[in-house]
Amino acid sequence: MTTNRTVRLVGRPVGMVTREAFEIADEAAPEPGEGEFRVKIEYISLDPAMRGWMAEGKSYVAPVQLGDVMRAYGVGYVDVSNHADYAAGDAVVGMFGVQQYAISNGKGVVRADASLAPLESWVGGLGMPGWTAYFGLLDVGEAKEGDTVVISAASGAVGSIVGQIGKLKGCRVVGIAGSAEKCAYLRDELGFDAVIDYKSEDLYAALKTACPDGVDVYFENVGGEITDAVLSRMNTFGRVAVCGMIAYYNATEAPAGLKNVRSILVNRLKVRGFIVFDFAERIAEAMTALVGWQKEGKLQLRQDVREGGVDAYPEVLNLLYTGGNFGKLVLKV
Ligand SMILES: NC(=O)c1ccc[n+]([C@@H]2O[C@H](COP(=O)([O-])OP(=O)(O)OC[C@H]3O[C@@H](n4cnc5c(N)ncnc54)[C@H](OP(=O)(O)O)[C@@H]3O)[C@@H](O)[C@H]2O)c1
Repeated sequence: MTTNRTVRLVGRPVGMVTREAFEIADEAAPEPGEGEFRVKIEYISLDPAMRGWMAEGKSYVAPVQLGDVMRAYGVGYVDVSNHADYAAGDAVVGMFGVQQYAISNGKGVVRADASLAPLESWVGGLGMPGWTAYFGLLDVGEAKEGDTVVISAASGAVGSIVGQIGKLKGCRVVGIAGSAEKCAYLRDELGFDAVIDYKSEDLYAALKTACPDGVDVYFENVGGEITDAVLSRMNTFGRVAVCGMIAYYNATEAPAGLKNVRSILVNRLKVRGFIVFDFAERIAEAMTALVGWQKEGKLQLRQDVREGGVDAYPEVLNLLYTGGNFGKLVLKV
């Protein structure tokens, strides 16, 4: 019998995630039915949104139900198949959950190619975070050549791809990140035009220096005080692509900030929230672009791979909310 180690949500955390919210146990691995296949998951994608999926209340998807395997993207290999289009050994990406084996009927599954890029990057820069960066910057942010683009959480899975696409499109790219090491990476390795360490610099003064011609596009990943500071530098008819609000995900009271909403009026800003799945019909377009840039050596993909298997899930997830990750955070199963 094949054993499947699973992480089930059994409580709704308040504040940061704790181990008590999960039941981690061995179960019999499920067998695929007709038209289904089983995936042996190699890497689990850890995404900031997971904290929201654990919470009750209105959101863009239903919360994970208590007792269910925690929702997660993953990448792995087909292990047993009763599906006409998938054979054992095929590399696949999908919403497979925090566990070792998952059953799929192929719906929502995307193929990966480990010969082109490391398997884990198919849940990173070539996967959902990459699609988010692509549509968020180009469609929602309407970035065009010559624009100044500011990105918060810039060294992360989404932000690092936004900045690189911005450079490919001829924008002036400014990244905000939480350490000198992350800032050096953005500037020296990814070619960002300017960087700001929000933990050690005066944000308002640094933005003024980094964006002498103001800001045309703000790619918002964080919220709170960083948003206020960037809003103070927006140009007339600027765009704010609201991708994430990570400063709020574990908050038990509203974080400081978001007072500068007058900037939306006086600058006639277009502020638009989006979820990557709004662009579900166009995923192939994003993948073609991202894979093309990667093949041409124009896109750097940085993964932060953590060991410990599914048992390490609660502690590793929290790295996202403390800035402990550097690159796309994944858990090796
Ligand atoms: N709309 C969508 O469809 C969609 C899809 C994917 C992701 N997202 C959002 O995109 C954002 C980035 O996600 P990701 O997967 O790329 O994660 P990530 O950037 O790889 O990791 C999260 C980073 O956020 C920063 N951070 C955490 N708490 C912060 C705080 N209170 N203030 C400022 N920065 C903070 C940390 O970097 P520092 O060290 O720089 O602080 C941390 O490393 C998240 O808000 C996420 O929810 C949205």
